[in-house]
Amino acid sequence: MKRRDFIKNTAVASSVSLLPAQIWGSSQEKMLRTAHIGVGGMGAEDLKSISSHERVKVVALCDVDSNNLNAALQMHPEARGFADYRLMFSEMADEIDAVVVSTPDHSHAPASMLAMQLNKPVYCQKPLAHHVSEVRAMKKLAEEKNLITQMGIQVHSFYDYKLATLLIRSGIIGKVSTVHAWSPKNWGYDGPPPTGSDPIPANLDWNLWLGTSARRPYKDQVYHPMNWRKLVDFGCGTLGDMGVHIFDTPYNALELDVPFTVKNRCRKPNGFGYPEENTVTYEFPATPYTTETLKWIWYDGKGAPPAHKDLRLPNKEKLPLQGAMFIGETGRLLLPHFMELPRHIVDGEYVEIDVSPFVSSGEIGEPVRDYALEGNKHYHQFVDACLGTDTCSAPFSYSARLTETILLGVIAGRFPNKKLHWDSERAIFRESKANEFLSGDYREF
Ligand SMILES: NC(=O)c1ccc[n+]([C@@H]2O[C@H](COP(=O)([O-])OP(=O)(O)OC[C@H]3O[C@@H](n4cnc5c(N)ncnc54)[C@H](O)[C@@H]3O)[C@@H](O)[C@H]2O)c1
Repeated sequence: MKRRDFIKNTAVASSVSLLPAQIWGSSQEKMLRTAHIGVGGMGAEDLKSISSHERVKVVALCDVDSNNLNAALQMHPEARGFADYRLMFSEMADEIDAVVVSTPDHSHAPASMLAMQLNKPVYCQKPLAHHVSEVRAMKKLAEEKNLITQMGIQVHSFYDYKLATLLIRSGIIGKVSTVHAWSPKNWGYDGPPPTGSDPIPANLDWNLWLGTSARRPYKDQVYHPMNWRKLVDFGCGTLGDMGVHIFDTPYNALELDVPFTVKNRCRKPNGFGYPEENTVTYEFPATPYTTETLKWIWYDGKGAPPAHKDLRLPNKEKLPLQGAMFIGETGRLLLPHFMELPRHIVDGEYVEIDVSPFVSSGEIGEPVRDYALEGNKHYHQFVDACLGTDTCSAPFSYSARLTETILLGVIAGRFPNKKLHWDSERAIFRESKANEFLSGDYREF
């Protein structure tokens, strides 16, 4: 089934006139009634953070794992619980003002598109979706309906990352020619696909978990929870996990659009798991903050990043475990991931960063070290935007571009060591075989 048919078939016929939340947002006393799809794992954190806002009332909880659903219902006994988000919308659409989607990646688009069809603002976890076609459809629908949207990259709202953005845009290291970004995490799997099947746990609705993806036998520890990330049919590997967070600040600071080439040095594809080690090289068109072309290299997996002269730190210090390094005409900026301030390096020495010009201009405050407070900012920004008192900093108009960039690197992993050329306007690769991976079929479930 094609994506458009899925949306048409599952769109809920509601007789109620549903207005985007921001329309009534100025009302002081109104509570934002939220529905949460996926409430285990990160979804439990999302639920906690969204519901910590004093003007949020959690009205609906949905999870295909009854253990996770029951745990969330215990925290919010006044909410109604569901296993199937389609049923939730058909029964409660007119009682829901905003939707939070925290499911595995392959379910982001089906659930978010349905919510947006019903004019609901959506907070969707990163990466925005599993396929480029879905990402583009989500951005388009959000724009057409003028909906409040936010992708779940909470670090986007942290002080350190705002500061790095201001520093880069102020020209602290001149125009940037290269970005190195890395994580030694491994959300790949080089082994063979599983054989046989295990009994489906009584608490899991396996058909609903698979959702629009092809039916297959259930196997313990392979898919649910969490491990779906490693698998091409459900997740986006390490790039789609840590990559989205670590890409975010350099991508935003440099005002990048999608790249025009991408190459992934990794093992041969096996059709099941993502490579355990990837080196992805992108080329981006120039922006006011870059040299003529910006080169971007991502390293993940064991031992990442390899030794590189650009990554040598003063005093032979150890490189942060994860992070990004901007290479500019007059220096380098190191951005550890996360909860550490950026570091400015010139001629092999650290140079103190003066935040006072940005403090005086009101663009940023004094450095924040209370990360517990920072954590809720991104969520509350979404709620406040729905209530009409703030603006989201990572709406789908931004996060779709960022996710598309990530997904192009993921697709390049199907063609190891081959430079692919991306035509963003036409949304196709010059290498036609790669276009097969831009979208996928939806199963009726
Ligand atoms: N922003 C962050 O820092 C961060 C951190 C971790 C995960 N994430 C993102 O959050 C999402 C979930 O990741 P996770 O690690 O929590 O995965 P997980 O597998 O641990 O949890 C997913 C939850 O969603 C439920 N679920 C699965 N399919 C569902 C469906 N169709 N309808 C309703 N519920 C469904 C599962 O039962 C489970 O409770 C992913 O997109 C991931 O990238 C973001």
